[in-house]
Amino acid sequence: MRRLALSLIALVTLLPVARAQSKPMLAATPPMGWNSWNWFAGKVTQEDVKQAADLIVSSGMRDAGYVYVNIDDTWEGKRDASGVLHTNEKFPDMKGLADYVHSKGLKLGIYSGPGDQTCAHYEASLGHEQQDADLYASWGIDYLKYDLCGFRTKMNADAPNDKLKQNAMMRDAYMKMHDALVKTGRPIVYSLCQYGFDSVWQWGAEVGGNLWRTTDDVKENFPSIALIANSNVGLGKYAGPGHWNDPDMLEVGNGKLTLDENRTHMGMWAMLAAPLLAGNNLTKLTSEITGVLTNREVIAIDQDSLGRQAERVYQEGPVQIWSRPLADGGRALAIINFGEDTTFLRGIPLHLKEAGVTTGMKARDVWAAKDLGAIKDDYKVVLRRHEMLLLRFSK
Ligand code: GAL
Repeated sequence: MRRLALSLIALVTLLPVARAQSKPMLAATPPMGWNSWNWFAGKVTQEDVKQAADLIVSSGMRDAGYVYVNIDDTWEGKRDASGVLHTNEKFPDMKGLADYVHSKGLKLGIYSGPGDQTCAHYEASLGHEQQDADLYASWGIDYLKYDLCGFRTKMNADAPNDKLKQNAMMRDAYMKMHDALVKTGRPIVYSLCQYGFDSVWQWGAEVGGNLWRTTDDVKENFPSIALIANSNVGLGKYAGPGHWNDPDMLEVGNGKLTLDENRTHMGMWAMLAAPLLAGNNLTKLTSEITGVLTNREVIAIDQDSLGRQAERVYQEGPVQIWSRPLADGGRALAIINFGEDTTFLRGIPLHLKEAGVTTGMKARDVWAAKDLGAIKDDYKVVLRRHEMLLLRFSK
């Protein structure tokens, strides 16, 4: 009898676990992949996306963790008489594209918005949320970026000068698409894109967001990257498994970014537990850029299962120190020179205690792939302009 009672208790306690196991958490670590916008913008075609999928595999990016191949704006055509949205001539066969991407062991993402039009003035989802979600699910879509843009016109028209009402409208609109996605029964990562309005980090998870943009668009230059990194100070407490702050897609390999700048960008995004969505031209991948994008140790920091985003623990002039706790009890520490000159950190201690580094921990220089042993506050750091020293401390 006692044994029966115990087995019953075990069954009841294990049931929720079994249920949770049958439905793995979406975006348990920050999503990784590639998005068409930063390089192709409005010119992207189905062939470009297929080629991107091929290159993600052949470059080794897939094996490093980049799985989402995301089509951004400008794939949309018109709605027919029953309201069903069609693709435009650049994307003749979305289902075929999804099948192709899936056959490579990758996933396909798409883009829309809560307004009647997207940012690039294509058809968006207002009034057709469930219909669109069902359409995505029927194609086999795995990720949706939902961009506010056109909905702002509606907010201004329906609630002129009433910020509170506008914010409520915005939340409802995001919630509506979340509900529609859930109803499809297909796991679809939900990415909110509304540039950080109304402190989205405070409510993004409540409306079902797996990630939410914290700022305006990233640009392919270092000041933009530095500005975005600094705009994420203090947001760490809002991120965690299943719900992430999104400082926008990567510009690694774009524009005239130097190797130091590309590394600082990638390393900073890893510290921020940011989604890593490459945005470069994969047909022109150099070994240097592939090396930055696929650095396993940097990716391991980004994807750390504890999911705790870094916070800035120290700043002196252009030099900043950020720290993030890791699942193995260690710490990742980034020391960044955001300034224009080479900086000698002679007088600046590493502030290891404030950064959560305990005595006895051993350091590794991640970008240099070099063990440094048990360094102390007086460890001398010399940083070139825009360079980052990324340290991983382990017990
Ligand atoms: C912007 C968005 C970009 C891109 C673009 C497409 O609002 O921030 O990342 O999606 O729209 O039109």
